[in-house]
Amino acid sequence: MRMRKKRRGGERLSQLSALFVTGSDYKTAFAEKKPLRLEIGCGKGDFICALSKKEPDYNFIAMERVDDVIVVAAEKYAVSRELGNLDSHGGWKAPDGTIYQGEAWDIPMEDRGNVRFMNCDATGLCEIFEEGSLDTIYANFSDPWTKNGYANRRLTHPDFLKRYLKLLVPGGKFCFKTDNVELFDFSLESVENEEGFELTFVSRDLHQSERAAENIMTEYERNFSEKGVKINCLEAVKK
Ligand SMILES: C[S@@+](CC[C@H](N)C(=O)[O-])C[C@H]1O[C@@H](n2cnc3c(N)ncnc32)[C@H](O)[C@@H]1O
Repeated sequence: MRMRKKRRGGERLSQLSALFVTGSDYKTAFAEKKPLRLEIGCGKGDFICALSKKEPDYNFIAMERVDDVIVVAAEKYAVSRELGNLDSHGGWKAPDGTIYQGEAWDIPMEDRGNVRFMNCDATGLCEIFEEGSLDTIYANFSDPWTKNGYANRRLTHPDFLKRYLKLLVPGGKFCFKTDNVELFDFSLESVENEEGFELTFVSRDLHQSERAAENIMTEYERNFSEKGVKINCLEAVKK
């Protein structure tokens, strides 16, 4: 995802640092212990904001490697939980009117809700999460890495699927959506070949499928479907 450089991106991230976690800190980051779900490459956060509201009985980690992108997702989430808004100078204005200009707001734990943001690359997943600690992993419209030699960076490459299998609980799910047919074919084959997964849903036109009504759209998904591009989706369960 290409972004114009955000004004004071680093400061904006610090202002909402209470919503961010690094490494294994996620274990103590939530007010209540609940099954944990992970979205890899959350982009600007539409999906995680809507899903986390719809599913309050789960905690969520939204992972994104680009800091200027994840800050937008965190701000969107904070607005959606009525935690204030960005003011015209780039400071964070809390509901009581206090403005945090580049300094961290220590948001009360009970107000932080069920999402935490992780600004890192998914390659190191197994160093962050414990085996069997995740209920579901989502990867939406991830980079197709179509150039020769980069297939191992695809989030559905067998190397990644093996990591997901380690981290998921038995019966845990991997959910994947993409506009890219080549990536989808590759992903379908990878999942089918992975012993530990059982495919439970496949659609090459998600918005016309029986899952259309319950589907939560991401930013990319909305853009592509407005242009008439069909959305591919697969879901696999850890045996
Ligand atoms: C094409 S965008 C899609 C964003 C969003 N999921 C959507 O559907 O609108 C892919 C996002 O995934 C992030 N991403 C790709 N590979 C990643 C990785 N290995 N670890 C963390 N984030 C990643 C990119 O930085 C980018 O923001």
